[in-house]
Amino acid sequence: MYQIIDGKAISTSLKEELKEKVTALKEQGIEPCLAVILVGEDPASTVYVNNKKKACEFIGIKSLSYELPETTTQDELLALIEKLNADDSVNGILVQLPLPKHIDEDAVIGAISPLKDVDGFHPQSVGSLCIGRKGFVSCTPAGIIELLKRSNVEIEGKECVIIGRSNIVGKPMALLMLRENATVTVCHSRTKNLKEVAKRADILIVAIGKPKMITAEYVKEGAVVIDVGIHRLEGKKLCGDVDFDDVAPHTSAITPVPGGVGPMTIAMLMKNCVDSVIFE
Ligand code: GUN
Repeated sequence: MYQIIDGKAISTSLKEELKEKVTALKEQGIEPCLAVILVGEDPASTVYVNNKKKACEFIGIKSLSYELPETTTQDELLALIEKLNADDSVNGILVQLPLPKHIDEDAVIGAISPLKDVDGFHPQSVGSLCIGRKGFVSCTPAGIIELLKRSNVEIEGKECVIIGRSNIVGKPMALLMLRENATVTVCHSRTKNLKEVAKRADILIVAIGKPKMITAEYVKEGAVVIDVGIHRLEGKKLCGDVDFDDVAPHTSAITPVPGGVGPMTIAMLMKNCVDSVIFE
């Protein structure tokens, strides 16, 4: 029988722990504060930003909300980031992506102080992760490490195969698994013999953005499978990149969609916000 890794329950425990930490910080007169910037009215981004603000409220983190019109110029956005960088009462700055097409995302991410980069997207944060220095880590891959550890999945010495090489998930995931002493393989759209490579994995992490692409043929008997994908099927049901019903019986543990990796992303953002108070 396989274990279903309950991301919802694990994220709730983490948020409860953070709430206690924030209460203790407030007793010392310290109030963590996150600035959340949304440009435009993309419906999905609006939902994500509202969920982030709600999580802040639950934990006791102050959130400042900047909801800017679609027509905001890059210079206006950069000026706001400059102001927040210089504001000592703000610990974290989050700019929700994607940004409107007339704004250069790299320029915006690069303008956020690495000391306040709670998304972990700044090149300095990514570089620090790569060479084992202190810095913020991208929330989804950091959440996956937390899920594995809190589910007692051993990582050290294990064969880990990651499918997907995005800057936000695949690449930082590979660096984190390496930091945990796994043997890491990163696969992508040009990988040859993907099924055979995936089948080597003791821990298979899938972030490819294709609904139910990973079937039992890609999975070694007894592997741990982590599904980062989330898709809405016709009829509104959600599914991941992994065909759960086909794959689950062959695993020792697997994350469901919804209720697996998803809830961990916001919980880790909250952890980064709390950590940002003491980050120097
Ligand atoms: N858009 C989709 N995911 C994310 C995320 O994790 N952070 C930010 N800032 N924008 C996103």
